[in-house]
Amino acid sequence: MSLVEERARALVERYSMKEVRIPVLERTQLYQRSTGETSDIVEKQMYTFTDRDEGETVVALRPEGTPGVVRAYIEAGLDRTEPEQRLFYSGAMFRRERPQKGRYRQFFQFGVEIFGRPDAACDAEILIMIDELCRDLKVPFTVEINSIGDQKCRPNFREALVQWGRAHWEELCDDCHNRIDRNPLRLLDCKIDAKLTESAPKSLDYLCDECRTHFDTVKELLSAGKVQFVVNPRMVRGLDYYTRTAFEVMASGLGAQSTVVAGGRYDGLVETMGGAAVAGIGFAIGVDRMALAMQAAGMAPSTAPDAAIIAMGPAATRHAIVVARNLREANLNVEMLSPERKMKTLLARAAKIGARVAVIIGDDEVARGVVQIRDLKQSTQREVAVAEAARAIADARGE
Ligand code: HAM
Repeated sequence: MSLVEERARALVERYSMKEVRIPVLERTQLYQRSTGETSDIVEKQMYTFTDRDEGETVVALRPEGTPGVVRAYIEAGLDRTEPEQRLFYSGAMFRRERPQKGRYRQFFQFGVEIFGRPDAACDAEILIMIDELCRDLKVPFTVEINSIGDQKCRPNFREALVQWGRAHWEELCDDCHNRIDRNPLRLLDCKIDAKLTESAPKSLDYLCDECRTHFDTVKELLSAGKVQFVVNPRMVRGLDYYTRTAFEVMASGLGAQSTVVAGGRYDGLVETMGGAAVAGIGFAIGVDRMALAMQAAGMAPSTAPDAAIIAMGPAATRHAIVVARNLREANLNVEMLSPERKMKTLLARAAKIGARVAVIIGDDEVARGVVQIRDLKQSTQREVAVAEAARAIADARGE
């Protein structure tokens, strides 16, 4: 997980972004007004409780980062003084979901939010960034994009979905019956009746001229930026604040929870939250899932030590402490094993932790200023001078 975060940090620095630290605890109302009353997150997934302050404020553990960033942005007055901002954040999020592989109640996101950039070039830049990260992490991935229109054209699409839902009432599941009036876009998210939704209206057919031009430009710029993508006209995203471009990035080898990055544009959100009319766009990387995707692709970083140090007797232990320190200073990953166990047990331990070599030191080695280096893969052993040990271990590692 930390490797995903490290690479994401290096990435955002190349895109001139600034870090923002947002609180873990926020008023529940913040999410009701932004993520949306009819989203799964607000309806059933938030850890909410009443604070014992005077006002008995209802607070929630953050289920996502975007609302907190928008609140902080408005509270700092940036929407009026310096609306163009490029921000990133990272940390734990909490959702009461049914846990399974890749879906946890506490999970980690690394998110990016850009304010004050309504242009399509910004959408493209955001997706190029994600493409760069997935390539850097060597995770096989697919980018899906869609446009869900804006405040002007979405009402027509919404209405078409309601009509379609009513016409297919008998075939729809109970969840979808509830969605028809509350949040008809979510009809397209139905996991039970995915086949049925193929006949549903598509947002792309309802876009106004401005939204269509915006989407066409995003696609053109993505092609220019060499990002491969698929247009998925059924993707609507489960959060209420999105406008125009929405996207999801799927990694292979993860089973049902395969979305590793998701986001989109949210041009009306800052205004809805009491700020100026400033455009916004962003995404969040599911850090846990991205780490699983790296594992599935055989790209997870190895934690196995380069060397396990085996010292026999008190004098050898003193010597081994110094050798281990020198090896670490030479940038090697070294585990010193307990000097109070038998050689056979220690060699078994060295093999178990996946050490490439065992460095064996006894009284005789101390007296002669050497160590025995045992290659645990090839079962060969050779004696080298202490000063040569780091080089010999690096050679065994294949450098
Ligand atoms: P989201 O789609 O709810 O969007 O979450 C983004 C990513 O977080 C998901 O694609 C997934 O990788 C990860 N994720 C979500 N829930 C879980 C979970 N229970 N366990 C493990 N990983 C999970 C957002 O949160 C938006 N705030 C993204 C955004 C930023 N949109 C604009 N700006």
